[in-house]
Amino acid sequence: MSDQHTAPFRIAISTGGGDAPGLNAVIRAAVLSALHRGWECYGIRDGFAGILAPKEYPQGGVVPLTRDTVRGITSSGGTIIGTTNRGNPLRYPTAAPDGRIYERDRTDELVNGLAAFGIDALISVGGDGSMEIAAALARKGVRVIGVPKTIDNDLDGTVATFGFDTAVAFATECLDRLHSTAQAHRRVMVVEVMGRYAGWIALYAGIAGTANAILIPEIPYDLERVAAKIRRRDAEGRLYSIVVVAEGARPVGGQASVIEHEAGRAERLGGIGEKVAQGLRELTGRETRLVVLGHLLRGGSPSTGDRLLALRFGAAAVRAIEEGQSGIMVALDPPSVKYVPLEEATSRMKVVPVDCDTMLTARDLGICFGDA
Ligand code: F6P
Repeated sequence: MSDQHTAPFRIAISTGGGDAPGLNAVIRAAVLSALHRGWECYGIRDGFAGILAPKEYPQGGVVPLTRDTVRGITSSGGTIIGTTNRGNPLRYPTAAPDGRIYERDRTDELVNGLAAFGIDALISVGGDGSMEIAAALARKGVRVIGVPKTIDNDLDGTVATFGFDTAVAFATECLDRLHSTAQAHRRVMVVEVMGRYAGWIALYAGIAGTANAILIPEIPYDLERVAAKIRRRDAEGRLYSIVVVAEGARPVGGQASVIEHEAGRAERLGGIGEKVAQGLRELTGRETRLVVLGHLLRGGSPSTGDRLLALRFGAAAVRAIEEGQSGIMVALDPPSVKYVPLEEATSRMKVVPVDCDTMLTARDLGICFGDA
């Protein structure tokens, strides 16, 4: 590391956006890897709020991370330094004198805040929003490495993000449990899962959990097709059905179901499960129930795969800093972890290719996507 430093080299870690199982494992790996090199480590509270809103942190918005603070956290969900999906520094919501909320760029303040704390390099752990912020900071001269996280698996440039495997495993377990009650009551169970504008969680859990229909954002659905599938099953004596709906799914010619869109944050999706359940009730006359898995998919202990991926990403981020890299994101490229430019990860969303082998498998298994 730079021999011009008399003080120890100092890194900061930030976790931003919706939490995902594995964040704490990244923090532990990054902190231990940094301490092994004789560096100091700090955690920025709640994304970048610890620097941009210091009054909210009387105990300190930037806190030391030591061997003790990261002990035993590999298996825990959430993040020990907090996260937020509000207050994006690129589009920070601010009240005008007339009460109107407008968005302003506060990245210069963030750059100055990092310098004021003597931070030599930053590890920004998050989804597309955090990678976009990291790219902006890199352009302003901050030495920054991105670490991709999201249960949605929608970040490009990496084969996988940690959190996804845990979310899929939990959703699959829920589907397994719903089969028996659906069968016992001869009901249609509609299960809404997160995933934003990508159908990865719905597709993977739906196939593994033996759903009869899966509705994903990539394929606008015609509910009559799903109803026809249910009627066919009824005619064959299989008097129950499981329908998995991604929160970003939309009908042919229709829009995704949005709950709200606040300044400075991504729009909140939700409500499509209720529409699908109601529609299927009317079209089939069958008793229908809705289960929204929502934030349960983000909670709990990371799977073994997510722990390993998160630990590998955290350690790789520190190695990248040591190599003098900046403006890049660590990425999974099995069997290795590689580095890709941050722009590569943010230039487009990774959605399900409708002709990928997983989709072909699902269709060969007879799963309906509401399109044919
Ligand atoms: O991006 C992760 C995610 O869990 C999405 O799947 C979901 O749309 C969103 O976060 C929900 O975020 P919030 O924490 O605002 O409810």
